[in-house]
Formats: sequence, structure tokens, C-alpha cells
Amino acid sequence: MSLLDVRDLTVTYAGGAAAVRGVGLRLEAGRKLGIAGESGCGKSTLALALLRLLPPGTRVTGEILLDGEDVLTMKWGRVRAVRWAGASIVFQGAMHSLNAVHRVGDQIAEPILLHGKATPAGARRKTGELLEQVGLPAARAGAYPHELSGGQRQRVMIAMALACDPRLIVADEPTTALDVMVQAQILRLIEQLVAEQDLGLIMISHDLAVLADTCDRLAVMYAGRVVEEGPARQVYEDARHPYAQALSAAFPRIGDPASRFAPRGLAGDPPDPAAVPPGCAFHPRCPVALESCATQDQVLRDAGAHRRAACVRVAGEPAPEPDDFEEARRAAP
Ligand SMILES: Nc1ncnc2c1ncn2[C@@H]1O[C@H](COP(=O)(O)OP(=O)(O)OP(=O)(O)O)[C@@H](O)[C@H]1O
Ligand code: SF4
Ligand SMILES: [Mg+2]
Repeated sequence: MSLLDVRDLTVTYAGGAAAVRGVGLRLEAGRKLGIAGESGCGKSTLALALLRLLPPGTRVTGEILLDGEDVLTMKWGRVRAVRWAGASIVFQGAMHSLNAVHRVGDQIAEPILLHGKATPAGARRKTGELLEQVGLPAARAGAYPHELSGGQRQRVMIAMALACDPRLIVADEPTTALDVMVQAQILRLIEQLVAEQDLGLIMISHDLAVLADTCDRLAVMYAGRVVEEGPARQVYEDARHPYAQALSAAFPRIGDPASRFAPRGLAGDPPDPAAVPPGCAFHPRCPVALESCATQDQVLRDAGAHRRAACVRVAGEPAPEPDDFEEARRAAP
């Protein structure tokens, strides 16, 4: 059984159109899945849906199986238990997510106490351990958020996410506001924690290069759908879907001066969920669109070993469900 198995997930905000449309993804413990795509393609909506954190009135259909249990049909009491202890989220911009008037140690201890995981003294001890685990002295528990640097605050956020020993961590743009040196430190820290604690990680970023470097698998979203998914380096270096190709080409490659001087962009903007073009949603921007693309929608299909892409130019059989990549990996000699 997968740690996380998302099936045909559709999210529609109240009074709006679907921001996530039929997404299927799978993640095993100890593995890292990256989710990339332009602004507005539904990445954060997907992340929030995983923990039932969407605003009231949002319609969510499909299945989100966390260790086989559907998050969408859980009673609220169970959802509260699963948050933090089953799965937790690290948001972008730690300054806004931390409470400015409380010491960071108290904020880390809060979920531990709330979930009855320890006595107040035990929670204080655990808070110190967590801070040290993320590379901060335990004494920093007494600091207020404004007394810490951006990188230190993001470390506190990660310590909070780890507080109740979750099985899954969802990190939504965890390093976007940080300079490159601190970003690299935070990424290595997340990688180390995932490996040591056998966690599952979903990491969301605009930065395909960072995801390719950090994650095992990579899903590229466009207009609320996954349009390509596969082993991270392969998707980054040899994308099959024209949108994933364009996204990948927008990042200069280290050691490739040609790409540095001629980074390619993509004209136009991703569509608003209320005005998704008919046929393949990408067709108005696609440099290799066929006439039929304006009317014929495309489903994900096999695009090589353990890869899927939703494009008429990919010749494989329809493959709406992610394949059992982990099974195959384990079975491989
Ligand atoms: N609370 C909300 N109510 C209505 N629509 C929303 C709400 N939150 C997001 N949306 C819409 O849903 C779509 C997807 O937004 P989402 O925040 O998931 O995108 P994203 O991929 O995370 O973008 P970014 O990279 O900018 O963070 C957007 O069109 C956005 O305007
Ligand atoms: S289906 Fe057509 S428009 Fe869509 S990505 Fe493929 S070639 Fe481009
Ligand atoms: Mg977002």
C-alpha cells in the first residue's frame, strides 16, 4: 500500500471553476515527489486539499488515501488527529505562518501538547531536540520570530512540521523567499530528514531545477491537471510533454553556456480556471499543436518506463493511474 494515493482529485472553489481537475498521484514512504508548474496551475490547491485545509464551501471529489484511509471522508476529529501526526505542511514565507507574538519554542510545542504527545516538560524537551535536529541551538526556543533570519524561521517551520512525527510532509515553496545559499542548506536538511525518518515528501516549487535535484519523481501541472509525471531527472532533462519541455527549457543548465545565454521562455499566460480552453488546455501556447488539439482533450498515457504524459504526440496507451514505480524499483536487480 502506498503512503499516499491520490485518485481523480478535483477541487472547485465556491463560486469558481475547478482549480484542480482529475489529478492522480502516488507516493511511497521515504520517497520525494516534486510538483512543478506556473503560477495558478493548482499546486497549492492540491497541497491544501491533501490536509483538508481548503476554505469552507470548496467542493472536493475523488480520493486521498493516506496509508489507505480516505482523508476526504474522515470525520473532523480524525482529520485533526491526522494533521501534524499523519501529515503536516510547511508553507512558503515563514514570517507570515509563524505567530509574531509567541516564542518559537511555544509554537513548536503547541501541536505536541494539543495532540497529547507529551507533558509540558516533555514537550519542552522535544522542542529543544527538534530545533537541534534542524540545525538550531535548543536555546533559540526562547526567540520571537522577528529575532530570527529568514532561513532560521524556515528551519523553525520544518521543526514544527516534524513535531508530531508525521509520515508525510508537504512543503509548498519552502525555499522561495531564501537566498541561494540558505535555500541549499534547507533543501539538504529536508532531504536528510526524509532519508533518516523514512518520511514521504511532496515538494512544490516553480523551480524545476531544484525539484530535479531534490526529488525522485516529478509531476508537472498545467491548468489544474498533471500533464507529465516520471523520474525527476528524466522529466527535467528529457520532457515528453511540450509544456514540460518549455518549463524545463526556461531554466539555464549548469555547465551549458548555450542555455545560459539563450534561456527560452513561453509566450502567453496559463489559463484562468474559469476559462480553460477546449481540447488540450495548452493548445493556444503550444509550439507544436496540431489542428485537432483545439478540440480533442488528452489524457495521460504511457510515455516510456514509469512515465506518463498527456499529449497527442506521445504514442503510448492511456495510463490515468500512476504506475507502481516503487514495486518495479524494488524488483529491479
Ligand atoms: N480561496 C480561493 N478561492 C477561489 N479561487 C482560488 C482560491 N485560491 C486559489 N484560487 C484559484 O485557484 C487557482 C489555482 O491556485 P493555486 O494557489 O492552487 O495555484 P499555484 O499553482 O499554487 O500558484 P502559485 O505558484 O502562484 O502559488 C488560481 O486560479 C487561483 O486564482
Ligand atoms: S496535445 Fe497538442 S496542444 Fe497539447 S501539448 Fe500535445 S501537441 Fe501541444
Ligand atoms: Mg501556490
